[in-house]
Amino acid sequence: MDLISSCDGKRIIDVGAGATTLIDSLVENGYEVTVLDISSEALRILSNRHGTNLQYINDDLSKALELGEYEIWHDRAVLHFLLNPNDREQYVSNLESCIRSGGFAVIETFSTDGAKMCCGLDLHTYDEEMLVDLLGDNWTLIDSIRHTHINPVGGERPYISTIFKRK
Ligand SMILES: C[S@@+](CC[C@H](N)C(=O)[O-])C[C@H]1O[C@@H](n2cnc3c(N)ncnc32)[C@H](O)[C@@H]1O
Repeated sequence: MDLISSCDGKRIIDVGAGATTLIDSLVENGYEVTVLDISSEALRILSNRHGTNLQYINDDLSKALELGEYEIWHDRAVLHFLLNPNDREQYVSNLESCIRSGGFAVIETFSTDGAKMCCGLDLHTYDEEMLVDLLGDNWTLIDSIRHTHINPVGGERPYISTIFKRK
């Protein structure tokens, strides 16, 4: 919430939202929230909590999508599951299709000094430079924080959390 609330805007899309309680905090703080996930089960859980207070998109970020327009894009822990460079390019293309100049991308991934797998799946981990390279010339990195997330079973997971602004 601290990262997101430091960005201007209240229209947000949370991609790979899962069933995160971050969505509850966003709603409580007056955000207009769209959640996207490839998992219909995750969206069903959010729908049970929030009903028509959210917009729901059940789709795959590695495909070309028409997502609408938002002021903030938030991703915690989905980009790092995209292992194929073409899928990552499509992710950036989807991001750029819905965040205009002056908008923000808050992107949080496992960092290069951390775990290489999550939930039995391989990960593509990141440092600042890799994220800057991936997003390319249309974006300015305005903040980057390293921290250790404690997962639900007590494991330490080094993360990188970044805020980018679209030029
Ligand atoms: C580790 S969970 C993170 C959930 C939430 N953002 C959080 O931080 O608690 C990753 C989520 O990304 C979703 N996901 C994985 N690959 C995806 C894709 N290609 N397109 C959209 N969602 C995807 C999964 O279904 C899952 O809900």
